Amino acid sequence: MVQLSKGANRIYGEAAFEVLAKAQELEGQGKSILHFEIGEPDMETPRNIAHAGIQAIQNKKTHYVPSIGLMGLRKAVQDEVEKTRGYRPNLGQVIITPGLKPGIFFSMLAVVNQGDEVIYQDPGYPTYGSVASFLGAKSVKVPLLEENEFRMNPDDIIDRITKKTKLIVVNSPQNPTGSVMTKSELGDIAELAEEHDIFVISDEIYSKMTYDTNHYTPTTRDGAKERTVLLDGFSKYYAMTGWRLGYMIAPLKMAEKLNDFLVSAVSCTAAFTQWAGIEALTGDQSFIPKMMARFKEKRDKIVKGLNSIPGFTCLAPKGAFYAFPNIKKTGMGSQECADHLLYKAGVATLPGTAFGPYGEGYLRFSYATTLENIDAAIKRIQESFE
Ligand SMILES: Cc1ncc(COP(=O)(O)O)c(C=O)c1O
Repeated sequence: MVQLSKGANRIYGEAAFEVLAKAQELEGQGKSILHFEIGEPDMETPRNIAHAGIQAIQNKKTHYVPSIGLMGLRKAVQDEVEKTRGYRPNLGQVIITPGLKPGIFFSMLAVVNQGDEVIYQDPGYPTYGSVASFLGAKSVKVPLLEENEFRMNPDDIIDRITKKTKLIVVNSPQNPTGSVMTKSELGDIAELAEEHDIFVISDEIYSKMTYDTNHYTPTTRDGAKERTVLLDGFSKYYAMTGWRLGYMIAPLKMAEKLNDFLVSAVSCTAAFTQWAGIEALTGDQSFIPKMMARFKEKRDKIVKGLNSIPGFTCLAPKGAFYAFPNIKKTGMGSQECADHLLYKAGVATLPGTAFGPYGEGYLRFSYATTLENIDAAIKRIQESFE
């Protein structure tokens, strides 16, 4: 019988896909399910971007390309980072990846050793803990508290730094809470990292998805030249989840190693996807403000609706497309409440605990759906508690 490696026994998946499978099983039995579990925009990729991808295939851009990405896209990313983050990385720091996720995996592989400690947000995106666990590192969780609008407090990081701390992972705007960290909080984290010689990975996949607030990055302090790496990508704000396209800005020494990881794992990111990415960054940007105006309407509707349900209270998230209501006064735990909503109301959500133990007492609703579905879900939930 196959003997799996220790690492293979330690890596884990994501609850969103399990809930989706359960919801689809119910749909197979003829039940009507409203979907709030999926973390992707409900819009299609803008036509100009899709067209650039199609044209690239027709122009035979279907071969291997350099592992770290097409020069044209890397230059476009260089301009983009200068415009949006206020520093211009060297071209050698810019690496293209098939989605943001490989950026998490490879940058953690590049800096974390067995026995190191990795600090990250809880509740938080499950991949950081999964990869830390795979590498035999210790997960050190910083609770995100509702009293602090679910923003990570730099003082809570100080308390958790030890001689073994190797890495802090920061995600803002955040999945699953929709919190957005302030410029000063992120600056404090960058300063702490410098003081204690700790590496920082900043997952900024929702960077263009904020409501009435600005996005900041902890990578400004060193320009991602010493101890920080910026990860961003096209999946969410260009509605390109299936294209698989992301980028990293990393210190030069690390970037050279990341090239080797890419060569060994994927060879390169699909060429035509990268041509679509050039159009995304350099073409018409009007899609994003339009999408965000629609998301804001949906956010306001779902927050109001959730606050009308007895036992639920919900803060207005400042970014991404997730609402994270407190359900403690229902008397149910997160998993029990998520199951109740799925089986009694036909509303698929994720328990807060899918994002770590500090998610207990909360649910995550992805409101990337129609206004009608939001109204229908709130009505069904209200009725399910009557
Ligand atoms: C915080 C965060 N990082 C990374 C990703 C994955 O991005 P990609 O699909 O580009 O790999 C997601 C997707 O849900 C996410 O929420």
